Amino acid sequence: MISEGRLHLAIQKSGRLSDFSRGLLRDAGLRIQNGKNDLTARVENFPIDLMFVRDDDIPTFVSDGVCEFGIVGRNVLDEFALGEAEPRFEVVAALGFGRCALKIAAPERLAYEGPQSLEGTRIATSYPCILQDFLDRNGVSATVVKMNGAVELAPRLGIATFICDLVSTGATLEANGLRPVETVLESEAVLIRTRKTLPEDKADLSTRLLSRIDGVLATQESKYIMLNAPEEALDEIAAILPGAESPTIIPLVGRPGHFAVHAVCQESVFWETLQKLKGAGASAILVLPIEKMMM
Ligand code: PRP
Ligand code: ZN
Repeated sequence: MISEGRLHLAIQKSGRLSDFSRGLLRDAGLRIQNGKNDLTARVENFPIDLMFVRDDDIPTFVSDGVCEFGIVGRNVLDEFALGEAEPRFEVVAALGFGRCALKIAAPERLAYEGPQSLEGTRIATSYPCILQDFLDRNGVSATVVKMNGAVELAPRLGIATFICDLVSTGATLEANGLRPVETVLESEAVLIRTRKTLPEDKADLSTRLLSRIDGVLATQESKYIMLNAPEEALDEIAAILPGAESPTIIPLVGRPGHFAVHAVCQESVFWETLQKLKGAGASAILVLPIEKMMM
């Protein structure tokens, strides 16, 4: 099943990260073959195979080296890592999608005055290690009740008073008459890789894959800015351009003392920035998306 000389990347089979994970790989130029079996897929134009698995299994696969890479939520990763003596994976990049938070929530009418309110209570969660770590750090002793799903039902069922679960929009909590009282962990999708030493050919492929993914992440924030300006405004304009390294300055034909300024800005460009550029003497300001970038 596992072919030699190809990399293996584990992503969530179905769930909140799966579409974004596929999207990221597509943006990195990987053409994912639609195979007959839905547990693996071959990438046509890059020596990598995708494994579609349960997100809880991704840290194990990557740590064991069954897959060289994986995309997984920090929540799942931290829960796994707390149970390991030494990490056998490393986080290569935060991916900026799948943002959510692991929060402790209480029934709407229950009074809450900080972590001491958790003392001696029962808290239901699918993240027992992360929760225990939070309780320890706050010097609180409480009973952690492990549940594999439907955690939000625990208070109504009388299994626990509090829950500790992922919150994204907050709709699930609200629908169950619960309100968030503590943030235990801010999470997003991360790319991880195994710490196992790779043979040279796979190490080279890894470098190529990572440089493509870096390129995608860089273009998400980056913009190409073009504007015209008189010579005396150039220094001020260069200082305003967000995250730009040495802009290109080109003389304008037929307008002595006037220049076109071109720059890649590696940070978001807001309307306020454009206003400032205009105030400094810029005109004909254009902001363009960047499709691909390799640094
Ligand atoms: C999580 C969490 C909540 C829900 C919160 O479950 O357990 O049920 O999302 O999202 P919301 O704040 O936008 O309502 P998830 O969908 O990840 O899967 P699960 O069924 O494994 O709990
Ligand atoms: Zn859920």
